[in-house]
Amino acid sequence: MQGYTTLYTLSNLPTAYFFVGAGFLWLVFRFFSQKNLRHIPTAGGPPLPIVSYIGLYNFWTNGTQILQHAYRQHKGRAFKVPMVDRWLVVLPGKQLVDDIQRLPDDTVDPAIMEFFGVHHMLGVDWHDDPLYMPIVRKLTRNTELVFPDMVDEIVVTCRELIPAKNDEWHPVHLYPAMHMLVARASNRVFVGFPMCRQGGYVDMMAHFADDMVQAITTLSIVPDFMRGFVARKVTVMDQRIQLCLEYLQATIDDRKAMMARFGKDWTDKPNDMIQWVIDETMARKRGDDEIARLVLFINGSAIATTAHHLIEAVYDICVRPDLADMLREEVEAAVAEDGWTRAAMAKMRKLDSFLRESVRLHGTATLTMFRNILKPVTLSDGTFIPAGTTISAPTLATHFDEDNYPDAVQFDALRFYKSGDKVQQQLPTTTADYLTFGHGKYACPGRFFAQNELKAMMAHMLVHYDIRSACEGVRPADVHRGFSVHPDMDARVLFRKRKVDFD
Ligand code: HEM
Repeated sequence: MQGYTTLYTLSNLPTAYFFVGAGFLWLVFRFFSQKNLRHIPTAGGPPLPIVSYIGLYNFWTNGTQILQHAYRQHKGRAFKVPMVDRWLVVLPGKQLVDDIQRLPDDTVDPAIMEFFGVHHMLGVDWHDDPLYMPIVRKLTRNTELVFPDMVDEIVVTCRELIPAKNDEWHPVHLYPAMHMLVARASNRVFVGFPMCRQGGYVDMMAHFADDMVQAITTLSIVPDFMRGFVARKVTVMDQRIQLCLEYLQATIDDRKAMMARFGKDWTDKPNDMIQWVIDETMARKRGDDEIARLVLFINGSAIATTAHHLIEAVYDICVRPDLADMLREEVEAAVAEDGWTRAAMAKMRKLDSFLRESVRLHGTATLTMFRNILKPVTLSDGTFIPAGTTISAPTLATHFDEDNYPDAVQFDALRFYKSGDKVQQQLPTTTADYLTFGHGKYACPGRFFAQNELKAMMAHMLVHYDIRSACEGVRPADVHRGFSVHPDMDARVLFRKRKVDFD
């Protein structure tokens, strides 16, 4: 009877209590089963398990300052900061960043998918076979081919989103407008026209990164063994995958029917991203839902990051009219010679330097290069890192280091500019002191595509509009939370149509 009563009572416990209790026990277990990292100094809070949550709270509210301070204090030596389920070892200084990227494959693993729980969220296991990689690499190789379509979409979308006239300043709420611009321009290339203008589809893609962040936050407090279940029940991921599939199903069916009919003889087989996605999934005998997952994942990686940097670049330009004039002159000269082509983009070296400087100062995160250590290693500073540790590099602190960049806090649009035949470090060039795209073997594979897209969008806006801050001379400020950075989400920027003699 007693047993029956207990069971009965248990069955009435609210599910939420069960999850919270299990989550707490798991966190305690995780922390006590952590490798011994006591020899590595702690930043931002106490070094003991469980009370380290005080440090986690500090890090959430004040992460940027904690990392900047710890970077200065420990430069050249590893330190650690608390995450929800583990310590994160941070490696400050160029030497240590180089140490990470020199580690062999059997010693280090990219951790971005595991750290953020992407596999659970999307219900996939791409660890041993990251099938999005060949697709993003094809995108990079074919940028020249897809570029005219992208430019066409930028022109049409800007006309709709920035309906400014010649004689008046028109306020634009930049955050949503630039997300929509990037979502449409990218999806013109990813899934083609007319899907890239289908309101529901493109809206879902513009906001998918937010959905991912919400799901990541939810999953971060859930034990590993429950993540798959919670990801399906609590987050919106399953609905997004289904909806994405509904949007793409007709295209997938058409393409598959043509492939079945013509096989290798399909001479005008489309060379676009949705086709590469279909090819990769069919080669592995995966279902159509895997196509939807890949399209969502690539959008999730591409849109929010690129939109972030586009917004930051517009914020940087809207308080510097002289800089806008200088860049406009360069854009107009390049377009006059080569039209709106990738060749013209390559000639816009000042614009490239401006974007690289904006990206240096306003990255999407204060940490990057998340890696899991598979075998124990001793770094060049003598720090022993046991297997099972997650490590990363501090982006913003590295970019604000005076040893790396003289007058590091100053915005210098031509910092990276080199004229004539001199080799210029381009926006996607990663180095041990330029980390926005990560660095080494696992650096962002989409960064070359992002470079061309950002240049095309900025060049178009510079030529077609005068741009001014709604708050005279004031650049909208970034918001820092934990280790993520967001541009001001509320700011309005003023646009005025320019008279353009050529197009
Ligand atoms: C300005 C825009 C972008 C920024 C700042 C950015 C940044 C990053 C960073 C920091 C990483 C992790 C690198 C590391 O761990 O070392 C990454 C990975 C990744 N990015 Fe980007 N990215 C951008 C645009 C794009 C675009 C346009 C695409 C696709 C078209 C893309 C696809 C990916 C993918 C698939 C990964 C995961 C790679 C892996 O699993 O190893 N990114 N990105």
